Amino acid sequence: MARLEELALLHTEVRGDGLAHLHRLSLGWRLLADLSFSDLLLMVPVAGDGGHRFVVVDQVRPTTGQTVYPRDLVGSVVSEVERPLVSRAWRTGEICAGEATVLGGRERVRLQCIPVRHRGRVLAVLVRESPVASFRRPGELERYYLEAFDHLARMVADGTFPFAREEVELEGAPRVGDGVILLDEQGRIRYASPNAVSSLHRMGIHAYTTGVRPADLGFAPEAVDSALRGRIPVIEEIERDDASILVRVVPLLEDRRPIGALVLLRDVTELRRRDRMLMSKDATIREIHHRVKNNLQTIAALLRLQARRVTSEEARKAIAESERRIRSIAVVHETLSRESAELVPFDEILGPLVRAAEEAVPDDGAKVDFVVTGDAGQLPGEIATPLAVVVNELLQNAAEHAFPPRTGGEPIRGTVEVRLQRTDGELCVEVADDGIGLPDDLAEAARGGLGLSIVQALVTGELGGRIDASRDGGTRIRVRVPLRWAGRAEVEPPG
Ligand SMILES: Nc1ncnc2c1ncn2[C@@H]1O[C@H](COP(=O)(O)OP(=O)(O)O)[C@@H](O)[C@H]1O
Ligand SMILES: [Mg+2]
Repeated sequence: MARLEELALLHTEVRGDGLAHLHRLSLGWRLLADLSFSDLLLMVPVAGDGGHRFVVVDQVRPTTGQTVYPRDLVGSVVSEVERPLVSRAWRTGEICAGEATVLGGRERVRLQCIPVRHRGRVLAVLVRESPVASFRRPGELERYYLEAFDHLARMVADGTFPFAREEVELEGAPRVGDGVILLDEQGRIRYASPNAVSSLHRMGIHAYTTGVRPADLGFAPEAVDSALRGRIPVIEEIERDDASILVRVVPLLEDRRPIGALVLLRDVTELRRRDRMLMSKDATIREIHHRVKNNLQTIAALLRLQARRVTSEEARKAIAESERRIRSIAVVHETLSRESAELVPFDEILGPLVRAAEEAVPDDGAKVDFVVTGDAGQLPGEIATPLAVVVNELLQNAAEHAFPPRTGGEPIRGTVEVRLQRTDGELCVEVADDGIGLPDDLAEAARGGLGLSIVQALVTGELGGRIDASRDGGTRIRVRVPLRWAGRAEVEPPG
């Protein structure tokens, strides 16, 4: 729960809808702080206290000016003796202004206390505090910003700001400091801040003058229109002349009718350029996987050609197995070349491996069904590649050795099952058949052939896992691979 909610529930009577209204205000009020160059405090009367004490439920500092409150006031309780104007705004429901001393200090501050109304009831008081004005006359920018703030303050008191529709301050959404354009009720430009003018220049708009509509400059026509007509803020990204400008249009309302709008713009050209670069880095990685896959397939094809030319049956078999091992690695790169992250859904790799095993069952042998159960989820390439080789060996062995052809009688039927199980930090892969079973224990069998010794080396070496086997009612070989170990980031779970 956010602090605002927590404090409101603990100390005040605001609940439900009203609380949601205050929450929306606190999401959108950075705009008010920046336009007024002031600190803002949101104060809610303490429950059952008759409006004598208020608790500060939220605070925001201006990014356009100096704060009078470097310390955090959220959670503190303020009495009507310290802030009589807050009490007055709460009781009368009117905006009250005056001077006071800073809370917990001695400097003088200027106060503006704005009742926060929601569905006709005053829920809280928004307090604007700023240093007592210096002698400097406010410039044009200050005057327009303060005028816009006054509009928004009246909307807060009327209950039309924050807007009813969830107004989340999006990450990266334009802020006052990024550039402001003020429009009148006809949607004509009254004022554009220096940063806003720079953004217009970036888009190739140099002929800006007051009195024209942004739409006449070919700038954000829809956003302005729909904000004014729909009476809700609209955010839009505009691309023009290689520039990307993020635009947020906030309508200013009086008696619920639009009397103008505030356009905030942020030049995000550089940001978007970096996005595109990142995207193309992703594409490059995919392209590399694609090429690795092609190269592996070329190697496999060369081996096949070689196998055709040798006469020794043993040599031919050895070359064919090497070809198959290389193809099982190619499958992983093929899958990686289609994924945007460096993660592969392992189930997709199993398909081609199972098909290769089906083909390895001797024609005159048993009728073997292959089944896959469970889900391995996403795996990074450095786990998926050795694991694909391991599973390939186990599947091939089941196809080649588990169901030897019988002389005479019915051809036997067999099943080979791949069971996948993913728990928190571990992946368990089991290849089980209901054939004749391993002739010896695993270590002994591995001494006999290259396949099982590759399996053992990869599982205990590269994958840092464990392997065990049982041989009742067939062969069951279980491989367990840790998914988080030295230096490796957590791997995504399935689903
Ligand atoms: N699923 C299985 N069912 C029965 N025997 C098996 C099975 N897997 C392996 N074996 C036995 O273990 C031996 C070693 O296997 P492996 O190391 O893969 O070598 P290869 O397959 O080249 O013979 C095989 O020759 C076979 O006798
Ligand atoms: Mg083998």
